[in-house]
Amino acid sequence: MSAKKNATSSRRNFIRQSSLAVAAIPLTQLSCKQKESVKEPDGFEFAFLTDIHIKPEMNAPKGFQMAIDKVNEMNPDFVLTGGDLVYDAMRGNQKKCESLFSLYQDMSKGFNMPVHNCVGNHDLFGIYEESPESEDHPDYKYGMWERYFGKTYYSFDHKGWHFITLNSLDVTENKRYKTVFHDEQMEWLKKDLEQVDKSTPIVITTHIPMICARSQLTGSKGSPNVTNSSVVFELMENHNLKLILQGHIHWKEYGHVNDRFHYIIGGSIAGNGWKGRRHNTKEGFVSIKVKGDDFTWEYIDHGWEDERIRIKKEEGSRA
Ligand SMILES: [Fe+2]
Repeated sequence: MSAKKNATSSRRNFIRQSSLAVAAIPLTQLSCKQKESVKEPDGFEFAFLTDIHIKPEMNAPKGFQMAIDKVNEMNPDFVLTGGDLVYDAMRGNQKKCESLFSLYQDMSKGFNMPVHNCVGNHDLFGIYEESPESEDHPDYKYGMWERYFGKTYYSFDHKGWHFITLNSLDVTENKRYKTVFHDEQMEWLKKDLEQVDKSTPIVITTHIPMICARSQLTGSKGSPNVTNSSVVFELMENHNLKLILQGHIHWKEYGHVNDRFHYIIGGSIAGNGWKGRRHNTKEGFVSIKVKGDDFTWEYIDHGWEDERIRIKKEEGSRA
């Protein structure tokens, strides 16, 4: 099924199920399963894995390894991550955070294809009041992430598509994270887009969503979208923005806006802190198949839920 057809089916769901168009979508499986994973001759595939929250506890390395194995089996051209690679650098000390970043880096070497990482709030080093590290530390905020993975915002091209990864985070005066695309990055984005043909399909990856219906569903004030995402939409006005990939919420949501662009919130690898589903969203990742100017997507269950339940039962019977 094409992305256009996928969007059509979501509009039908809207009519059938709810007066909140996008709100109906997270509760519905909108993936368009394809019978086989044969690569299109003029297309390509990539995987989007978000909110990995790697840590040594809770069998998290086993769960992440299962996702890596599944991705390798599917053999996409590359992997995009959606941030929150580790849990947790915001409150941590140097030694603990170093071990978490090393664990993620070592494990992600297991992917058989390039990995393009994104920064999440839990990856920001020492930003919370409770962290013993100071703002003068060279790894503060983005420093540790940059030391391991390079710039927190960047772009690359792949087979005629342009991929932009953004940094959706900064720190407030009172030492909490805030959801914003900072000015320096927006200046960079403007220049980056000057080099991109108006017809080139563009994919944006951001940890904090630019669009998400969750607050409309729940009335929750938590997890706000990026506060100045309109700046990016304005810059995209005359470009072929195709898809926005988003993390942070640990749930699955798809939308298609004004026949222009699509967005996906890609579930999570970690679920609810590796204890189970979060927002009733099964742990998994997104597989995207591109053909020409169009794409299809599917949410992939890499088997962690079954394994997590099996381990729990085993531990229960030993207790
Ligand atoms: Fe997360």
